[in-house]
Amino acid sequence: MDVSTAILNRYSVRGFKPDRVDQTIINKIFETARWAPSNCNIQSWHVNVVSGEAKDKLAEALIADVMSGKKEYPDFVPGNSLLTGAHKERQYECAARYYATMGIERSDKRARMELSLKNWAFFDAPHVAFISVPKYMRDGHFMDVGIYLQTLMLLMVEHGLGSVAQGALSLFPDPAKMHLDIPEDHGIIVGLSFGYPEEGAQINKARMDRDPMESHVFFSE
Ligand SMILES: Cc1cc2nc3c(=O)[nH]c(=O)nc-3n(C[C@H](O)[C@H](O)[C@H](O)COP(=O)(O)O)c2cc1C
Repeated sequence: MDVSTAILNRYSVRGFKPDRVDQTIINKIFETARWAPSNCNIQSWHVNVVSGEAKDKLAEALIADVMSGKKEYPDFVPGNSLLTGAHKERQYECAARYYATMGIERSDKRARMELSLKNWAFFDAPHVAFISVPKYMRDGHFMDVGIYLQTLMLLMVEHGLGSVAQGALSLFPDPAKMHLDIPEDHGIIVGLSFGYPEEGAQINKARMDRDPMESHVFFSE
């Protein structure tokens, strides 16, 4: 598969088959992804891949934490509440499409909450990767993690897998820190649930558009 095909075939998969991915394939993906570029080659990423019973126990602990009524306590500022203008509109459009695909009215807070909760059960994916970086890292360094994340997502497409990046998994970091071997000075920046896509699943029918190239790319000579 060439890179363009992988990019155009990738979408956020939120419905998975229960089948586990063979460890040799998982190793191949993470072995290749380590060649992602980073600023000054600092390679700040630390990855915990969780599967099986450990994943189920972590999901249970995360959902209990989320449902406890406490406010989000991320290690890094998520920033979505700061959005304005076209960015805010796209955020609304993304949510609207997602809810419409799932037959949920925007006013139905309970159904929206139930859908949102699926984040912390990793959308029932057989595997999830938690990506953390040292807490002293700043804005410029987060690009490195973004590049690494996209590298992983494209490699997964190449291997017939689906994945969904999840900022939601950074919002309640304590359970992951208790259950996983994450360095003490690290903050969780993002999670990536992955596995084989359940092609017919309704949740996988949500598709997001992109603005045309002319709206954001400008050429000068
Ligand atoms: C850094 C990052 C964080 C994201 N966080 C979440 C999340 O917490 N939950 C979720 O369901 N989707 C999440 N997404 C998926 C986006 O909503 C999705 O990429 C976007 O709507 C474009 O859709 P597509 O990936 O299907 O092309 C995230 C994506 C990225 C890149």
